[in-house]
Amino acid sequence: MCGIVGIASNNNCTYALIEGLKKLAYRGYDSAGLATLVNKEIVKRVALGKIGNLEAIIKEKPIEGNIGIAHTRWATHGSPNELNAHPHATNKVAIVHNGIIENYKEIKNILSNKSLIKSETDSEVVAHLITDYLDQGHDYPEIVEKLLTELKGAFALAVLFTKTNKLLAIKRGSPLAVGYGEQNNFIGSDAIGLAPFTKKISYLEDDDWAIVDNKNIFIYHGKNKVDREISITSISRQSIEKGGYKHFMHKEIYEQPTVIGETLKSFIDPEKKIIKINSEILKTDIKKISLIACGTSAFACRIARFWFEEFANIGANVDIASEYRYRKLLKTEGEVVIFISQSGETRDTLASLEEAKKHGLKTISIVNVLDSSISRLSDENIFTLAGPEIGVASTKAFTTQLLTLLIISILLGKNKNFINDNFESKIITQLLDLPSLLNDILEKENELRDIASKIYNAKDVLYIGRGMGHGLALEGALKLKEISYIHAEGYAAGELKHGPIALIDESVPVIGIIPTNNLYEKTYSNLAEVKARGGKIICITDKEGKKNLEDLSDLIFSIKKCNDYLQPIVCALPVQLLAYHIACFKGTDVDQPRNLAKSVTVE
Ligand code: AGP
Repeated sequence: MCGIVGIASNNNCTYALIEGLKKLAYRGYDSAGLATLVNKEIVKRVALGKIGNLEAIIKEKPIEGNIGIAHTRWATHGSPNELNAHPHATNKVAIVHNGIIENYKEIKNILSNKSLIKSETDSEVVAHLITDYLDQGHDYPEIVEKLLTELKGAFALAVLFTKTNKLLAIKRGSPLAVGYGEQNNFIGSDAIGLAPFTKKISYLEDDDWAIVDNKNIFIYHGKNKVDREISITSISRQSIEKGGYKHFMHKEIYEQPTVIGETLKSFIDPEKKIIKINSEILKTDIKKISLIACGTSAFACRIARFWFEEFANIGANVDIASEYRYRKLLKTEGEVVIFISQSGETRDTLASLEEAKKHGLKTISIVNVLDSSISRLSDENIFTLAGPEIGVASTKAFTTQLLTLLIISILLGKNKNFINDNFESKIITQLLDLPSLLNDILEKENELRDIASKIYNAKDVLYIGRGMGHGLALEGALKLKEISYIHAEGYAAGELKHGPIALIDESVPVIGIIPTNNLYEKTYSNLAEVKARGGKIICITDKEGKKNLEDLSDLIFSIKKCNDYLQPIVCALPVQLLAYHIACFKGTDVDQPRNLAKSVTVE
């Protein structure tokens, strides 16, 4: 999604603006730009493609200024080109925007200066609308009031004026924060973008606006000054650097044993071997769980459904947020809706949460970003401690989501007396073994790199699995698609014979998720059907399962034997590493794949 940086300082801020953009690059973008105030004139530079292109332009045509705004654009309205790149400016203002102005065409028609509009974007209309307000003699409060009345949709705006050395920030629907510095202050899309400058930040609420200069930040809601909590972010510069890895994704795959351990410790008392989650909702008599998310987070939900049935004897309905938000929500007695989101900003998930709350449903969020929109709107929130996840492809957030959902299912089983203390203690002992099970896979990474070297030229790949393995097959296919651009599908293994097996020939690798469990034999049969039709078979299994698969498989990767319910978390790593190495062989942009954004804050 688009990234916003604003700086009000008492020295040249150009290179700090670029530094902030680089930290926001993980959100995904296709152009970048900045604008500063030089002798009360707005000067801007924009570039198509990477931030390095913007740096090159500024090196050629330097730009100075103590106050400025900057932007990484993920195109929604208007193709990626310099004309549509932000900032958008008139002779009086420059603006950068994240979100979608749904009624920009109607507004464009009422502008006095619409002939000056050059781009195809919804955002440029806002720059001209503010200019109209200034020409009519309005100042901040009226301008903000009129914008909040006129504009429909989601927007986070940072505005630079020629008439003053102050920035204006306005927030509705898209995330926006202000950062407190020593002799300078900041505006940013998130804590990661502000990390190079400050750890002291306040998240704006919907319809908040702020006036930022190098000495002060004043936050308003309507005409009233408000105090928003100043939080100290835990994001260190080291946690948003690659730390010697070639890609953030690789670093984050390797962080999983540690962050799984951190997340585990936050939920259990290792001495007493009991679960401790601070939730009033989870203590109530829950009869139904709805799990709502998008993308990889939704696949975590599909897997978790089995745990809620198995350990808590509770049915779990899984829905992708972009569908859930438009369905007729039927409120069931004893229903809790859990929203899972790494970023905590995914628009579809946030909108689903808004709908659930409108229907009086109890809501819990599982997010990886403190103070995110979804966590702040939920009745309760539970945090995964994966740390900042910069790579667009979700890895450590996925496994910590799985762990968190597994632990919640066990807690519910305990609360319902469906499982006893002894069973809980046994499970916890096994959970404490997770980091070493994951490390074991990382130590065998080269085996996965070798497998990747043999299939990276495939045009189509199928992932198949049964039960929880089906959810992992879906996740494996998504990982491969999003970073290598190879077409891949995840299927329930039992579904192959109902159509997809027509795709099988020697050019289509089939990756079987087949650790030993109650579905091993059935999945084995499905792989045998593939073999009989000349398919190339790669198996992700465990040491016990490997023995019987050697005749059937072209390639095998095996994990250490572990309990069935831990298999999805453990098997996630080979799935991730396989996709990672295939993408490396393909030479794609692993951390910022084309067309994708880390946080999808538009619909
Ligand atoms: C996962 O690798 C993708 N980047 C994407 O599917 C992602 O999981 C989805 O956009 C949901 O994001 P969230 O967890 O931040 O809500």
